[in-house]
Amino acid sequence: MTPDEASVSGVPLKTGTATAPRRLPEGEGTSARQFLPACAETVESSDFVFGRDKEMAELRERLSARESFVLHGPSGSGKTFLLQRAMQASPEALYCPDAASPQVVFQSLALALLASRDRFVRSCFRSPRVVNTKSAISLRGIVLDAVRRGTYLVVLDHLRGPAAALSADARDLMFYGGTPVVAVARSAHMEDLGFLTPFFALRSERMRLGNFTCSQATQFAEEVARRTQLQATNLPEFIERVVELGQGSPGAIVRMLQMALRPKYRLDGYVKTSPLYIDFRLAWHAENAL
Ligand SMILES: Nc1ncnc2c1ncn2[C@@H]1O[C@H](COP(=O)(O)OP(=O)(O)OP(=O)(O)O)[C@@H](O)[C@H]1O
Ligand SMILES: [Mg+2]
Repeated sequence: MTPDEASVSGVPLKTGTATAPRRLPEGEGTSARQFLPACAETVESSDFVFGRDKEMAELRERLSARESFVLHGPSGSGKTFLLQRAMQASPEALYCPDAASPQVVFQSLALALLASRDRFVRSCFRSPRVVNTKSAISLRGIVLDAVRRGTYLVVLDHLRGPAAALSADARDLMFYGGTPVVAVARSAHMEDLGFLTPFFALRSERMRLGNFTCSQATQFAEEVARRTQLQATNLPEFIERVVELGQGSPGAIVRMLQMALRPKYRLDGYVKTSPLYIDFRLAWHAENAL
């Protein structure tokens, strides 16, 4: 993903900073330039959270209740986005952005413990660089020990059907260590939650984040277009298409509106909807394929 495509609204999706000035590729004509905003708001740094008051309140409540739960919903529905904001009120939360394997999880947790100035972990690792030099077994031992000593909460984001080993570690944290675990996945089924599925069997242990309804999605798209100062001769029709094609996914809507700012998808003040959508779909499917 290019910096241009990083999140419009808050936490960057993957890499890049939306605050960097956008450069026009060489050879872009003035017709493309004149419709580009001089200083589009990079909602990146703002507190803009659209239409999720109830969900934000529930997340904050669940985090402060210190009970394990799974947050699930389709790609782009805003799980990472909302959770990161809700966690601001929970400094004891240790966030693992990519719970792909035990090694990656324990490295993230060690870094999060260092960042939260955990005394025990600081006595084991003098600097974050040392974390990568530790063997998987010693890293696991240190992190589990530190987490049990403190009153932390562990957030495992982007779970993709965790295998038995990672699930066993999460179970140990929850049941023997007394540390709540927030599992984040695209569904609460085996394909996404893997061996963790049986640990979140009760309905009360599951929180679903759905996509926006059609009218919410329209308001959201209009608001994002306004904030990014997106202008185009065919703006109303383009927004209508984005809402239809995005199927209520805030992530998909934001992505398409961001793409519309790029000269590649503009012609004489128009947004070229079809090529934009084709490229969007290719990128979206490639990113979301398991
Ligand atoms: N309520 C919202 N208000 C404003 N922007 C939002 C909102 N929800 C989502 N977004 C936008 O959608 C983007 C995608 O959201 P996010 O990455 O949180 O999706 P996700 O559910 O974690 O997807 P995945 O399953 O692929 O990890 C965010 O970076 C943000 O720009
Ligand atoms: Mg996510």
